[in-house]
Amino acid sequence: MHPRIEINHEICDKEGLCVRVCIEDIFEQKERSTVPAIVHPEACFFCGQCLAICPTDAISHSGFEISNVIPITPEMKIESDRLLGFLRTRRSIREYHPKRRVRKETIEKLLDAARYAPTGSNAQSLEHIVITDRAMMDKLAALSVDIFREKILHFQDENALSNLDPRLARRIESDIPFYKSVVSEYEAGKDPFFYQAPVLIITHADLTITSCPTEDATLASYQMMLMAQSLGLGTCYVGNLYEFGNESPEIREMLEIPVENDILISFILGYPAVRFRKLVDRHEPKVQWLEKAYVA
Ligand SMILES: Cc1cc2nc3c(=O)[nH]c(=O)nc-3n(C[C@H](O)[C@H](O)[C@H](O)COP(=O)(O)O)c2cc1C
Repeated sequence: MHPRIEINHEICDKEGLCVRVCIEDIFEQKERSTVPAIVHPEACFFCGQCLAICPTDAISHSGFEISNVIPITPEMKIESDRLLGFLRTRRSIREYHPKRRVRKETIEKLLDAARYAPTGSNAQSLEHIVITDRAMMDKLAALSVDIFREKILHFQDENALSNLDPRLARRIESDIPFYKSVVSEYEAGKDPFFYQAPVLIITHADLTITSCPTEDATLASYQMMLMAQSLGLGTCYVGNLYEFGNESPEIREMLEIPVENDILISFILGYPAVRFRKLVDRHEPKVQWLEKAYVA
């Protein structure tokens, strides 16, 4: 749908900032200090940068509710050391407070934070499923463990591996002991997928309209996790669900995933039953600084 974009000539400062930030060349300023013309509104992908940069609020855009266009204030900035401290205190939580439920309004704050993550071509096509029902998570765990059992069985046959691309075969071979340990934990009565967390969030998207579905979902989920942390909640990715869930018609049916969509990421959340007291180190980054001037 083409948006209706207008510039109020009375208040436009004619600096052309909208022309500079719009990567779709929707605005054109033929001469300096003139009101830009709107030449390609049909190319708009609704990023809103024109509205966000206009110092005089001269632009109106039918795709944006003007009351949600809010001035950026100094309090919205975070000092870098505080940000790093906050990032380092996030840990995967695998033990949750059994009695403390997570309120719906709290989960809504996470979903709201997800909206502001960048998406390829500004697709904003992610869809989320929030599960707070223990029986559903138990069923998902049972279906997931079935996938693991099938894989263990299937790859016991050496031919199954030798028919694959060697790199994939090597990866599967190294994953089999992990699959076996998950199955044995599950059979011992543990919950190696969801750790008895009170909430599971699954993100999926229509792959036909999304240019970078996995990246979009990963960024959005991490944004939710950071918001969760700021609200005193713990989180942990559930890699196995999104890695194998799409292979299972039962899982797709249970979650009502449309045929065009794929499950892209999933994580659990709840109030932590453990509290980390220290920051620990990570590997030094492996970086190659290419500083030599390129000579053709
Ligand atoms: C993509 C991804 C998938 C993950 N899947 C799982 C999982 O299925 N189960 C689990 O217990 N942890 C999972 N984790 C958590 C990692 O094990 C964890 O992030 C890592 O050990 C570092 O610990 P930290 O998150 O506490 O910093 C996953 C992490 C990522 C990034």
